[in-house]
Amino acid sequence: MLSYKGISAGYAGVPVLHDVSFDIAEGEAVAIFGHNGAGKTTLMRCAVGDIAQVSGSVSYRGEDIVPGAVFRNTRRGIGFVPQGHNVFRELSVRQNLTISGLHHPESRVEDIYALFPILLERSNQAAGSLSGGQQQILALGMALMTKPSILLLDEPSTGLAPIVVRDVMASLTRINRDTGTTVMIVEQNIPATLAIVSRAIVVKAGRVVFDGPSRELERKEDLWGWF
Ligand SMILES: Nc1ncnc2c1ncn2[C@@H]1O[C@H](COP(=O)(O)OP(=O)(O)OP(=O)(O)O)[C@@H](O)[C@H]1O
Ligand SMILES: [Mg+2]
Repeated sequence: MLSYKGISAGYAGVPVLHDVSFDIAEGEAVAIFGHNGAGKTTLMRCAVGDIAQVSGSVSYRGEDIVPGAVFRNTRRGIGFVPQGHNVFRELSVRQNLTISGLHHPESRVEDIYALFPILLERSNQAAGSLSGGQQQILALGMALMTKPSILLLDEPSTGLAPIVVRDVMASLTRINRDTGTTVMIVEQNIPATLAIVSRAIVVKAGRVVFDGPSRELERKEDLWGWF
């Protein structure tokens, strides 16, 4: 469904990704691991076309992702939750959800409330006054407003208390299993993420050094040596 073919990318002439190729199938839940600066966010940005210098190609459901055309690319069914709690702090929870819905009916908000009751509870509250975990849930709800077929998440657990991490991970499992939404998640919290994905990809200095079942990665005694 999402296919990277020989992707090399970088910023201002400095290469970051080197000849990265992999395919993500419909319905899969895949984790991307790697140290700070390995190129994980760059990899996600390539999937929505948010990057200037690319060779190789990314295709989504058989059609190329067009570099620079993020809005057009994401409208094809890609939900992107960027790094950090990306919510409109001054707006209420409901307003955040409504404006994220693009051309989808406002009634979609009720679906999101059913999935995350905490957002219904806080519906009229300014998003900036929510806790970090609640803001992350809201950012997730905002991405789901457009009914994406694939959800890309960039470090959703950063800065969250362990119990909140469990909540966020559990909701991702529900989204993946119950609605068949494909999930690609970049994470630093490896144990919490391995529990919810079936496959892991490890990126080291812009190259894929492991791509296989998460169980296989879990079993590796020198797990950290892979990074
Ligand atoms: N806008 C930019 N301009 C110039 N260099 C950049 C830019 N964004 C990222 N880089 C560089 O590209 C490299 C990879 O960055 P990237 O953000 O993809 O890594 P990452 O694996 O997501 O790291 P982190 O875990 O810290 O989020 C880093 O060396 C970074 O400094
Ligand atoms: Mg990053």
